[in-house]
Order: sequence, then C-alpha cells, then structure tokens
Amino acid sequence: MTTVRNLACLSVFLLAACGADPAPGPVEQIIVREPGAAPVETAAVVTDAAPAGALLAEGKAAFASCSACHALEQGAPSGAGPNLFGIVGSPAGKVAGFSYSNAMKTSDITWTTSELDSFIADPAAKVPGTTMVAGAIADPAKRHAVIAYLESVTAN
Ligand code: HEC
Repeated sequence: MTTVRNLACLSVFLLAACGADPAPGPVEQIIVREPGAAPVETAAVVTDAAPAGALLAEGKAAFASCSACHALEQGAPSGAGPNLFGIVGSPAGKVAGFSYSNAMKTSDITWTTSELDSFIADPAAKVPGTTMVAGAIADPAKRHAVIAYLESVTAN
C-alpha cells in the first residue's frame, strides 16, 4: 500500500512579507500663484546684525569708559583728552587748543573706523609715545560698538 502524501502544502509565509507600501509623502511644496504675481516669500530674511539701536546703546554705555577724559558734545571743552566730536574721518592731533603728544601730532593718521579700532585696542602700540595711557578696550565687539556710537554722534 502506497502512502500518498499530499505535498500541496504551499507555504504562505511569502504573503506575509507583502505589506502595503506606505503612502508616499509630499516631496516638495508646490506654491501656486497667478502669472505675473510677485514672487512668494518662502523664508524669512535672516540677518545676523544687531539692530542699530542696540549697537548704539551698547556703544554709548561703553563710551562711559572714555568720558572721564573725552567730551563728545560739539564745542564742549576738551578734558584730559581732546573732544571727540566728529573724530571719525578726521586727521589725528588736530583738535584746536588741545595739547597733544608729539607722537600724536606727527602720527599722520586719519581716524577711519579701522584706525580707531586698532588705536582703541592698544593706544601705545598704535601711537608709541601717546599720552593716552588708559581707556583701551580689549573686546572687539565693544570697540565696534563704541566706534559706531562715535560715528553716530558725528552724523547728528
Ligand atoms: C585717561 C584718560 C583717557 C581715557 C580714559 C581715554 N582717552 Fe582717548 N585720549 C586721551 C589723551 C590724553 C589723548 C591725547 C593723546 C596724545 O596726544 O598722544 C587721547 C586721544 C584719543 C584719540 C585721538 C584724538 C585726536 O584728536 O587725534 C582718540 C580717537 C581717543 N583718544 C579715543 C578714546 C576712546 C574711544 C576712549 C574710550 C574707549 C578713550 N579715548 C579713553 C586720554 C584718554
């Protein structure tokens, strides 16, 4: 007697692997606009500059370390240091009535913002023999702010 085995026992496990594909997500955003319409703003404009008002406020605060020696109001008398009104863009050593060091008088500097920056960072290195012996600012951001403040007062 022959035993016939029914081998028609097909595995069904392959079907189990047949999960439905996940629905495809949107791959890009489609922006619809009328022909000729202005371009749509798709992202906020990001700037890293501090608002001008904040910079000037910081510069004004930093100028407190200068004001012991320097006046900044137009026409105000010089103190231990010369009046700094209008200093940005001016030649060094030219405030009338102030007694400068020879070093400053003969420095031939024009006070651009970058010349001011290096002077305020280290006055004696920039103008060896200067009589400005205090008031240096080590922090570049603070120097930037104080120079912006000097410039803003000039412009007013
Ligand atoms: C202790 C007093 C003192 C302090 C504080 C001081 N200065 Fe001066 N400053 C002077 C003197 C004095 C001179 C003149 C230097 C010379 O003739 O060599 C001078 C000169 C200058 C000049 C050149 C002006 C010109 O007419 O050519 C600039 C710019 C200046 N100071 C900026 C500053 C700034 C900005 C600060 C604050 C961050 C500051 N000073 C703090 C005393 C001071």
